[in-house]
Formats: sequence, C-alpha cells, structure tokens
Amino acid sequence: MNNIILIGFMGSGKTSCGREAAKLSGRDFCDTDELIERQQKMSISDIFEKFGEPYFRELETGLIKSLIGKDVGVLSVGGGLAVTEGNGDLLKQIGTVIYLRAGIDCLVERLRGDDTRPLLSGGSIEDKIINLMNLRERAYIEASDIIIDTDGFSVEEVAAMILSEVV
Ligand code: S3P
Repeated sequence: MNNIILIGFMGSGKTSCGREAAKLSGRDFCDTDELIERQQKMSISDIFEKFGEPYFRELETGLIKSLIGKDVGVLSVGGGLAVTEGNGDLLKQIGTVIYLRAGIDCLVERLRGDDTRPLLSGGSIEDKIINLMNLRERAYIEASDIIIDTDGFSVEEVAAMILSEVV
C-alpha cells in the first residue's frame, strides 16, 4: 500500500486525521515529532530550548531521510518540516504528500492556550500564526501532491477524504 504523508500548519489535524486514516485503512501510523522525542528521549520543547531550532530541523531532515524506502503507512509531519529546503523532495520519495489546509480562524481557535509548541509561545497567537503562515504557505503547496481543505469537516470526514485520494 502507498505511504501517505500529511503536511500542514500546527493544529491542521495531521495527527488526529492521520491516526483515523491509518485505522480505517489498516496502515501503521507514525508522527515525526513522536519519533524524534523517542529517539532523543526529550520533548520537542526541551530540544528547542536546549539545542535551538536549527538543531531540531537537522533531526527532522535526518529522520525523513531514514524513512525513504520504508513502509511507514501514514506519516504525520511536524508543521515546519516541509518548509525546510529540500525536504519536500525527500517527502515525495517516501509517499504521496497531502497538505491538510486549514484557515487562520480555525487554527487560532484550535491552538489558543496550547503550551506545547515553542514557536507559538508568548505574544499574540493570531499574529504568530498569520506571520508564520505567510512565510510557509507556498512551501506547503509546493511540497504537496494533493491539497485537502479541512475547514468545517470532522476528523472522520477528513480521514475519508485522505483515503479517497490514495490507493
Ligand atoms: C512546528 C510544529 C510542531 C513541532 C514543533 C515545530 C512548526 O509540530 O514539530 O513544535 O515549526 O510548525 P505539529 O505541526 O505537529 O504541531
């Protein structure tokens, strides 16, 4: 079966919809943040704090290189991974890349109060999301084979849309 790679902004539903799509299709599920936390025996926030973002980005790129040629099932990818230059091509070597697109209002609603994502801490969450999305949207589109607009759909509906795109 084809591997499915889910990319998109923090809070776009990559993990929840990915888990559901994996369950419905009998695929395995994995998440780059979880794999990195397990490898490093440290939370993502601690990695950012102790070693900085560039180090975390290197870990992300090293991880996806190691997944090329493997049967990963459904892979949910941290929100910045597809933005790093070169990673879009690496992801396409793993499987079909789907961008789960969510609108700013929806993201603000879902991410308000979140304290697990270092890039959103401090200041106005809305401004942070708008600024980061402006920087990233083009990379998400370029890295993806397929775009799914998720606003207004349930986790189950998005999972069904994902599976309808991939054999
Ligand atoms: C990040 C997204 C997070 C995590 C880290 C950085 C980003 O993953 O990788 O906090 O740069 O957008 P999720 O998209 O799963 O929240």
